Amino acid sequence: TYKGVIFDLDGVIVDTAKFHFLAWRKLANDLGFDFTEEQNEQLKGVSRVESLKKILEWGELELSKTEFKRQMALKNENYLSYVAKMDEDEILPGVQKVINYLIKNNIPFALGSASKNARNILKKINLLEKFDAIVDGNDVSKAKPDPEVFLIAAEKLNIKPENSIVFEDSVAGVQAANNAKMMSIGIGGQKTLGEANYVFTDFTEIDIEFIEKLLTK
Ligand code: G6P
Ligand code: MG
Repeated sequence: TYKGVIFDLDGVIVDTAKFHFLAWRKLANDLGFDFTEEQNEQLKGVSRVESLKKILEWGELELSKTEFKRQMALKNENYLSYVAKMDEDEILPGVQKVINYLIKNNIPFALGSASKNARNILKKINLLEKFDAIVDGNDVSKAKPDPEVFLIAAEKLNIKPENSIVFEDSVAGVQAANNAKMMSIGIGGQKTLGEANYVFTDFTEIDIEFIEKLLTK
C-alpha cells in the first residue's frame, strides 16, 4: 500500500519546463547552434550543470571553466525573468485538486526536484507552506536517474520507498523513481515515459478515485 506522494516540480506542478527550454535554447542560439524539442526531453529532470554539458556536446563546443559558469548564470537569469511573472494561476490544471485531497486526508507529500529555484517557485505559486518536506537541487549530490532525491524525500516523510508514489514528467525522473523502487506515474507522453508504471497526459486525466485506490488498498 502507498502512504505518501512525491511530486517533481518543473513540468508536473507548473509548466516551467517550457521556460527552461526557452532559456537553454537562447543560450545555444547565442553560441551559434540550435537543438530540437526532442533533444530537450533529455534535459528534463537534469541538473543545471549536467544540462549545459549536454548542450555543449550537441553544439560540439568546449568552454573554459569561467565561461561555463558565466553561461550557466546567464541561463538562470533569463529563466528567472520568466519565473518572476508567475503566480498561482500557473499551477497546472488538476494539480490543486490532488493536493487538496492529500491535505484533507492527511497523506504526507513532498517535493523532489533537481531545481535550485524550487523554493522560490513554490513561494510564487503559494504552495511552499503546503508541502511536508522539500528536497531540491540544493540538497542532493547525485542527479536523477539516481534515486537520491526521492529517497531523501521519502525519508523526510517518514515512509518507505516502496510505499511512495512519484509524479514525474521526465525520463530521468521516472527512472529515478523506478530505481528507488517507488511507484512511478509519468505526466506526459506514453512514447517518452513508457518506463513509468502509469502514464497520464496531464493531471486532468487523473481521477481522485485512482489516487484514493492506490492510497487505501
Ligand atoms: C529540473 C528541470 C531541469 C532543470 C533542473 C535544474 O529538473 O526539469 O530542466 O535544469 O531542474 O533547475 P535549476 O532551476 O536549478 O536550474
Ligand atoms: Mg520535471
